[in-house]
Amino acid sequence: MSGFDKDWLALREPADMAARDPALVEQLARALTTSSPQLLDIGCGTGSTYRTLRPKLPEPTRWTLLDYDPTLIAEARRRIGSENGVTFCQLDLNQLDDLPLEGIDCITASALFDLCSAAFCDRFTARVAGENVGLYAALNYDGVMTWTVPHALDAEVVRDFNTHQQGDKGLGPALGPSATSYLKDALTKEDYTVLVADSPWILESDAGELQAELLRGIANAVLEVGNLPPEAVSVWLAFRRDAVAQEGSSCRIGHTDLLAMPSLNAR
Ligand SMILES: C[S@@+](CC[C@H](N)C(=O)[O-])C[C@H]1O[C@@H](n2cnc3c(N)ncnc32)[C@H](O)[C@@H]1O
Repeated sequence: MSGFDKDWLALREPADMAARDPALVEQLARALTTSSPQLLDIGCGTGSTYRTLRPKLPEPTRWTLLDYDPTLIAEARRRIGSENGVTFCQLDLNQLDDLPLEGIDCITASALFDLCSAAFCDRFTARVAGENVGLYAALNYDGVMTWTVPHALDAEVVRDFNTHQQGDKGLGPALGPSATSYLKDALTKEDYTVLVADSPWILESDAGELQAELLRGIANAVLEVGNLPPEAVSVWLAFRRDAVAQEGSSCRIGHTDLLAMPSLNAR
């Protein structure tokens, strides 16, 4: 499964739902003060952000779900159906000038900005600030992964995984773990009020399938980076897979959520 595969997105959706910081979602709901708020979810995948936020936001909220992958948009459309107030848009985010911002109160994005470069975030920030649009950017990986059952190679694996996270995922060299702090600084400079909160995955043995897929992805990334001998990575992976079922075993994958609203004067 790749990072944008619909099966992987389905597997992670319950963990994402549990992880999002509830106070930031409440703040978002409170900030949507127009009679019929409009949201634009960028990098929507199959619509996980929509499914999670919709019951928590004022009615009626209208949504545009945007992604560059027609397969994921088709899956989002299939799952969401013809619910009122949802439209779909296929666009590559590199074409930032074409972002359909007219009438949009807030952009939402989940598990997206850690894939983006500093240059992209600068262009994006200038674009949204120019239109006084808010941003809810959830579930950005923060670079910290810990396991209750330790292994001697954990720190090196995390280090190399974090290096891999900074590769180019199509939007320039990715910020990876520093995405939230970069966005926070950029939006604060544009006079936004910015809130940040932790939203870690805490995965126990009942999330065995997600953990297995995650571990496979981590090991592949580390092998691609190439600092660690493949045999050592295989031993680490086998240990980690076995540990998932152990009593009291869990892992914590750090993420952060960010909510940025333009100053009241600007709106
Ligand atoms: C990790 S997935 C997250 C999907 C969804 N937000 C979720 O939380 O399940 C990242 C998403 O960003 C989309 N994406 C990546 N690069 C993109 C680009 N250049 N333009 C538009 N969408 C992009 C992918 O197709 C994928 O749906």
